[in-house]
Amino acid sequence: MVASKTVNETKEKLSDLGQEHVFNFYSKLSEAEQKTFLEQVQSIDLNELKTQVDRLVLGNEKEADFNWDALKPADYISLPENGGDSALWEKAKSLGESVIKEGRVAAFTVAGGQGTRLGYDGPKGTFVVTPLSQKSLFEVFANKITRASERYGVAIPWFIMTSAINHKTTIEAFEANNYFGMPKESLFFFSQALFPAVDLNGKILLEEKGKVVMTPNGHGGSLRALVDSGATEKMRKEGIDVLSYFQVDNPLVSCIDPAFIGFHVLNQSELSSKMIPKAYPLEKVGIFCQYEGNNLVVEYSDMPKAMQELLDENGEIVFRSGSVAIHLFDRDFIERVGSASSADKLPYHKAVKKIPFINGSGEYESPKELNGVKFEMFVFDALSKANNTVIIEGLRNDNFSPVKNADGIDSPKSCQKDQLNQAIRWLNAAGVELDISPEGNKTKDFSFEINYRFAMDEEDFINQWNNLKNKPTIELGTIIE
Ligand code: UTP
Repeated sequence: MVASKTVNETKEKLSDLGQEHVFNFYSKLSEAEQKTFLEQVQSIDLNELKTQVDRLVLGNEKEADFNWDALKPADYISLPENGGDSALWEKAKSLGESVIKEGRVAAFTVAGGQGTRLGYDGPKGTFVVTPLSQKSLFEVFANKITRASERYGVAIPWFIMTSAINHKTTIEAFEANNYFGMPKESLFFFSQALFPAVDLNGKILLEEKGKVVMTPNGHGGSLRALVDSGATEKMRKEGIDVLSYFQVDNPLVSCIDPAFIGFHVLNQSELSSKMIPKAYPLEKVGIFCQYEGNNLVVEYSDMPKAMQELLDENGEIVFRSGSVAIHLFDRDFIERVGSASSADKLPYHKAVKKIPFINGSGEYESPKELNGVKFEMFVFDALSKANNTVIIEGLRNDNFSPVKNADGIDSPKSCQKDQLNQAIRWLNAAGVELDISPEGNKTKDFSFEINYRFAMDEEDFINQWNNLKNKPTIELGTIIE
């Protein structure tokens, strides 16, 4: 039985914070349920919750003034084809390759999100994305990492962050698929922390009579989780100091990109990022900017429309650097920002959502309107805390086509089209003429694939293709592997 002193203290604490309703159904719970409930409530950092509710829900704390006039576009390193220094790119690539060969690089996927927009039941990483071979997101990344390991003759570990909502099912998916061909010892799974969700008045929501609604604390929670889980310690022991960060929903990402790694190391950067020029001024991506001497990402929803639409004398978008959640982290930097005592903690943001809950009468409600607030940290907020940050340009079609929505923009369909366009481009680059073009009509019903186990990027593909003795004819259903 739970000691009444513990119960009273917890109640009192909640009551002091105006959250006494959390205990409304306590007396109706079984003894075992009471115990689990108390454990859950005691694991919550209630002071932190109060701070965030005051700041983000009740608006009691004034946000620091932001001087939009002082905001400038971030500097970035252009691709050679867009005026960048090709000798410098070559230098960066060859440095990056040496760093990979030395075993200093690991891949890192954040996969702790809820994936509500896609509406898929299961860890998002198990969602099938390739048009013909029907591979899941996890398998695509495993193929790319395995190919990079093979190409550079080195084991490349893969860190995967889950959350309590999908940790077990994620590991089961890897086990059931023989770790997608990767050595088991190269994989390291760990969970991020959760944070309570509240209603629009800042009151904690209950998921069951004896359970608080807890949601993953955002991809920014990865820095703390990397430290707490022992991932950074493992990196240190294994001599890994560069972590290649990408999100689970973007199969086009170049998981291990030598030139990007080279620029990162060359500049002794603590955090490097890839930018993609925005496709159109109001594209819904964060924007790399400079403010008071630091690089940072400004969310499109925060930036005034006129600023997003501003064009320079050449007709180019001024604030053009789209952030697509591709970063390289220095291990020491993760430890600095991710440690419990860090003075450089990432701020929380709020996301207003429809969150099912138990109402005052003890009934389950699935709201039709927005009713709740989730608190999330964003990984890109680490940028302004890092030294020597570097931003390089990436080609959209070799880096970014996320699967976020069930239909339309950033959907499985648009992603399959982008995979096909990439395959056409790589073949063209290898000198293979096809009577289809990336945007041609024939691509509508035509599909072929390049297995990322065969080639991890365009340069790799050209070499692999040239070395291939029996080159397949490219026709409907061809898989190059
Ligand atoms: P999104 O911001 O797209 O969120 O995450 P989501 O939860 O996947 O999807 P919606 O918004 O509910 O539809 C971008 C990336 O960050 C990871 C996701 O797994 C995805 O790889 N993420 C997000 C986390 O790892 N933890 C989080 O708390 C949130």
